[in-house]
Amino acid sequence: MSGKDTLVKRITSNSARVGVVGAGYVGSTIAHATAKRGFPTIAFDIDFSRVDATNQEKEKNLTATSSFKRLKSCDVICICVPTPIHADHSPNLDFLKEAARTIASNLHAGQLVIVESSVAPGTTRQILLPLFVRSGLKVGKDFFLAYSPERIDPGNNMPFGQIPKVVAGYDEASKELVSLFYGSFIHRIVPVSTLEVAEMTKVLENVFRLVNISFINELTAYTNRLGIDIWETINAAATKPFGFLAHYPGPGIGGYCIPVLPYYLLDSAKQHNVSLSIVANAAKVNEKRSDIVVKKALDVLHKNGNGHTNGNGHTNGKRAQVLLVGVTYKRDIADSRGAVTFKIWEKLEENGAHVSYHDPYIAKVNGHKSQNLTTEILAQQDLIIITTDHCNVPYTLLVDAKKPLIDTRNVLSAYDVPHIIRM
Ligand SMILES: NC(=O)c1ccc[n+]([C@@H]2O[C@H](COP(=O)([O-])OP(=O)(O)OC[C@H]3O[C@@H](n4cnc5c(N)ncnc54)[C@H](O)[C@@H]3O)[C@@H](O)[C@H]2O)c1
Repeated sequence: MSGKDTLVKRITSNSARVGVVGAGYVGSTIAHATAKRGFPTIAFDIDFSRVDATNQEKEKNLTATSSFKRLKSCDVICICVPTPIHADHSPNLDFLKEAARTIASNLHAGQLVIVESSVAPGTTRQILLPLFVRSGLKVGKDFFLAYSPERIDPGNNMPFGQIPKVVAGYDEASKELVSLFYGSFIHRIVPVSTLEVAEMTKVLENVFRLVNISFINELTAYTNRLGIDIWETINAAATKPFGFLAHYPGPGIGGYCIPVLPYYLLDSAKQHNVSLSIVANAAKVNEKRSDIVVKKALDVLHKNGNGHTNGNGHTNGKRAQVLLVGVTYKRDIADSRGAVTFKIWEKLEENGAHVSYHDPYIAKVNGHKSQNLTTEILAQQDLIIITTDHCNVPYTLLVDAKKPLIDTRNVLSAYDVPHIIRM
């Protein structure tokens, strides 16, 4: 029986053993889904705490390990390691290459490797494939290679199996195998013709969000100047039954996907001598968005005579107290990675303010504890900034404190009181 036929048999009979490399947000979601589907699943991670946490769950069909030799026992291997950017915004493929090298050293005939990490088009074929073939095995003959972008949306309750999965294979056999594998527990599979189309699909989805949110954020400078309510305008435009998709202003986009992947695209475009000025400008607008929030905050504090230690003539011996409400990068989740609140925090402190925070999902961060929203704590504040629009924050308490309140998310749209300042 060929390697492909064996894999088909194992997938269809539920006996395929799945290895998920990187047991973080994406990897653990996939590992739980495959275990639930009935595939014996091993989650691999270099972080022992992730391994322990997964093992403590005692989920049926799922174990975790840092012993990568056990990759040899897997039929299907999904790569879910981080693909961040360096401080200069250049892509950091170190985690991905390291994971690929580890897999390559355990690769054997009859395995299917699926890359899930978000990357620029061409990465799977040009960067990862050469690492896999160093094993001496031939792709499409001995082992199979696929790319399938991950679309999990933290905070969104849509079940994993309901999110259509785009898949592509290095060759026809790889495409058939990845389609069969995911099709066994995901209701809709969208096969595309090449690895690059699948990689680009994820890039397009993220860049689409970046460009549209940055566009709306930029537009607020104009509408604010003219005294036009951007939120009311967007909601009116959204009544158009076709050709308009509402995006809303905010303090800037955080997280590990939307503000990151466009830089992978820009890097790739540069290598191919293509100028993507809209994407480049959208990324710049996003980077600067937190400065606009900080400027607004400082203007409010200066206007109200609150002290700073930034030497700009506004010192009165007292540091302004600023409370940030929400440190996660989006609402109703417990993930603060890459959250824009930290940029705002840092810049406010650089300008002399004393910053504290409240977040119902994050008890401690950066050596600080989430503040309870008591009358005493709120009374000490010179300014409150709503940075994340969690549903379970008692917003009435914030409004009733009658302190200047910058609402970057328009959660207080129902209130018409002068101490609420909108972006
Ligand atoms: N988080 C999301 O909402 C989301 C959504 C879609 C796509 N993605 C993409 O999925 C990928 C993973 O993102 P994530 O949010 O799950 O990251 P994460 O940081 O939550 O998890 C990644 C895990 O990989 C582990 N790891 C790093 N190097 C490893 C190696 N060599 N071998 C084994 N484990 C290793 C880390 O310890 C970590 O536990 C990224 O490319 C990301 O862009 C993320």
